[in-house]
Amino acid sequence: MKGIVLAGGSGTRLHPVTSVVSKQILPVYNKPMIYYPLSVLMIAGIREIQIISTPQHVGLFQALLGDGSRLGLDLTYAVQPAPRGIAEAFVIGADHIGDDTCALILGDNVFHGSGLYGLLREHTAHVDGCVLFGYSVKDPERYGVGEVDASGRLVALEEKPSAPRSNLAITGLYLYDNDVIDIAKNLRPSARGELEITDVNRHYLAQGKARLVDLGRGFAWLDTGTHDALLQASQYVQALEQRQGVWIACLEEIAFRMGFIDAEACHRLGRESTHAGYGTYLMELASQGAR
Ligand code: TTP
Repeated sequence: MKGIVLAGGSGTRLHPVTSVVSKQILPVYNKPMIYYPLSVLMIAGIREIQIISTPQHVGLFQALLGDGSRLGLDLTYAVQPAPRGIAEAFVIGADHIGDDTCALILGDNVFHGSGLYGLLREHTAHVDGCVLFGYSVKDPERYGVGEVDASGRLVALEEKPSAPRSNLAITGLYLYDNDVIDIAKNLRPSARGELEITDVNRHYLAQGKARLVDLGRGFAWLDTGTHDALLQASQYVQALEQRQGVWIACLEEIAFRMGFIDAEACHRLGRESTHAGYGTYLMELASQGAR
């Protein structure tokens, strides 16, 4: 399975902060925002990942993450010339996906919860159609909302409904079979001029090949799109990290635990770290071995 992090967009709700800086490079507490979605793909076991961003900002991500080899990843970069919709990721990323399946995650989505590894392993192993992840929210009318039958099959998908049929908002993590490339290439732009991810999902829904997995109450799916939401996401990460003494979305740690790098490489990354606390954390982890 190939991965794509879509990290473009205009970030207008965060202006003036994002007037000249990419939203996905802003800090969520102590790491750039993109670390969080990238960590999700890594936990899913995906190592070949394309990062798509705007012409102005793609270089920032390249400078930050390079070719990914220090983390045992294969990172490539592509440009979305204008924010013409989330589904355009599959057109831009078609060569990267090749004939494989694909996981797309939005560069501003933060997921956290126990059991993520098992959940992702289970659903990425064999994708026939699409797999969406739903999260129960108190204001579903702000989101794409899905309704499932008893077997978890998606039976209805509504965009910002005034009378939602369920509380399950569709999150920014999507798994697709290889048909997604052709589906995206054949989409027409919506009234707002975008290739809509909901139209891709509706295509699978019509074929009875869409699943919606409820993340359940044990997960946090955090928004970072507004100043308040971004601050709250930082506070969430701060509270958990300080209480538990573990780091959330520490890419080096995940690379080590997933077996992408060995203990020696993890120790070296710790030694090289210019942040003393982060460096010690990685070196201790390397000495203890992955649990
Ligand atoms: P949005 O939240 O829809 O838009 P935005 O990030 O541009 O912010 P704002 O609403 O404040 O203007 O985008 C969700 C995510 O998808 C975000 O990470 C940006 C990304 N995105 C793209 O990279 N390209 C696109 O064409 C679109 C629509 C979104």
